[in-house]
Amino acid sequence: MKKLSIFLLFVLSIFVLGACQSDEKVAVSGASGDGVQELTIKFAHVVAENTPKHQGALAMKEYIEKESDGKIKVEIYPNSSLFGDQDEYQNLVANNIQFIAPDLTKFVGNNPQFNVPALPFAFANDEEAIAFWDGEKGQEVLSSLKGDGVLGLSMWPNGGKHLTNNKHAISTPADLKGLKFRTQGGQVLESMYTALGAGSESIPFGELYTALDQGVVDGQENTFSNIESKKFDEVQKYMTVMNHTRVDYAVFTNTKFWDSMNEATKALVEAGIAAGTEVARAEAKSLNEQALVKIKERGNVEIVELTPEQIEEFKKVLEPIYAEYEDEIGADIIEAARNAGE
Ligand code: LMR
Repeated sequence: MKKLSIFLLFVLSIFVLGACQSDEKVAVSGASGDGVQELTIKFAHVVAENTPKHQGALAMKEYIEKESDGKIKVEIYPNSSLFGDQDEYQNLVANNIQFIAPDLTKFVGNNPQFNVPALPFAFANDEEAIAFWDGEKGQEVLSSLKGDGVLGLSMWPNGGKHLTNNKHAISTPADLKGLKFRTQGGQVLESMYTALGAGSESIPFGELYTALDQGVVDGQENTFSNIESKKFDEVQKYMTVMNHTRVDYAVFTNTKFWDSMNEATKALVEAGIAAGTEVARAEAKSLNEQALVKIKERGNVEIVELTPEQIEEFKKVLEPIYAEYEDEIGADIIEAARNAGE
């Protein structure tokens, strides 16, 4: 009996030793001496290269690849080349891609609070938008996709949107009557155009140039950098500088992917996102200013700069939207957005 127990103990110790060794093998094959795992990360987005989002993604890639000595590869897919507005979110949820940074209004179907960038004249500039999304209420909204296994990490601004169309110059609310505009999506943008007597249709960004060219819609609203880099001015005749709504992004990742990284890898990727955030935030304004200069140089669109009095007219017509959406978005979120500059 004693012999049998010793034999069993011997067999058990061999088994435990083997198990420890194979655990170690997994760890070694997944991480180098500094503990950083070998990974390939895919980041898909819909805009062109010369934009705040792509510049942020590039800075993130450069940091992560350099600091990991090439153990982590970051593949960026711009221009809807891998996935577009229609399918990038599902592919993030499926972990086919690990990062996206969509215009936040594209999430209104998941949570109406993502309508915030579409609230008319809520933010005067990037700083106010950043203050909202970095603040308590903004963070609450960014973390609202956890049920889908999606984590909102860091807000990246693009900028204020401006109207383009190919029918006539727009300088008063009445000028929009009867026109049809493409929107990024969302109830607030739809209500805004309804209040202005115009129609609207949500169209993916990757299909917008053709939609404008073929007259599916008369116009659209976007930042200077998106208008210039996608050459929307080639198929539009008028542009009104309005700054009435915004394109803002956040970097989103898949929770399973995020949790699969060990501490060293996660810290490095987090630092990479911070590097991307710094560049996106620092360059958004100047990239949009440079884009406006290029649009002016190309001379395809007649540009209307609204006077403060004309802006007041638009604000007056659009003000009721705040009361209309108070319940759906939440009075606390709306208040935080409107007070973000204070
Ligand atoms: C658009 O769809 O017009 C933009 O939101 C695209 C983007 O990501 O900037």
